[in-house]
Amino acid sequence: MKFFLDTGSVDEIRKGNELGLVDGITTNPTLVAKEGLSFKDLLKEICAIVPGPVNAEVTAPDAPGMLRQAMELKEVAPNIIIKIPMIPEGLKALKTLSEKKVKTNVTLIFSPVQALIAAKLGATYVSPFIGRLDDISQVGMDVIRQIRQIFDNYGLETQILTASVRHPVHVLEAALAGSDVATMPYKVYEMLIKHPLTDSGNEKFLADWKKLQEAK
Ligand code: E4P
Repeated sequence: MKFFLDTGSVDEIRKGNELGLVDGITTNPTLVAKEGLSFKDLLKEICAIVPGPVNAEVTAPDAPGMLRQAMELKEVAPNIIIKIPMIPEGLKALKTLSEKKVKTNVTLIFSPVQALIAAKLGATYVSPFIGRLDDISQVGMDVIRQIRQIFDNYGLETQILTASVRHPVHVLEAALAGSDVATMPYKVYEMLIKHPLTDSGNEKFLADWKKLQEAK
């Protein structure tokens, strides 16, 4: 399973990259707005660090506007993926982008059939938001499992990008369910790496090693 970092922060992207854990990036308008930079400048900076897919979302309300934005965004770098919301205008734009062989990620997916529709229209990725489903007392991960089964039933090549990941158990369950990608905030990367037994074990090894050096 690929690990994408869900952020607009160049600082977090650099830190994740140093760990060797950034297969790609997802951004969304909320994350980009936090950075206070021009979207294109921010994307250029991100693409200079990350060679993998960098997801950039369109914000126009209609398909012609989305297509105009998509064409501009894709000129920023060859690894840009166009993120499109799962709304009727988004689907019209998706159909055109698929015909032009532009790579896409259909976002704000909350049901397996929404994912099937996006895949039928040629989406490269679908992004089910599991944390937001958990927030309203639905089991977000069930949607991932059902999408996996549907895509396997029909040999659909669209990749499942598990999004709205909040903690390590989401990452574990996404991997067990056969998700192609999980995108997560930097703090989840930190939580995944850290284990109290690793830290206490390492401290003991280092203390014993120091004792040996002092005894020499
Ligand atoms: C994915 O592409 C989205 O940016 C993201 O995962 C949304 O997560 P949130 O529900 O924590 O805002």
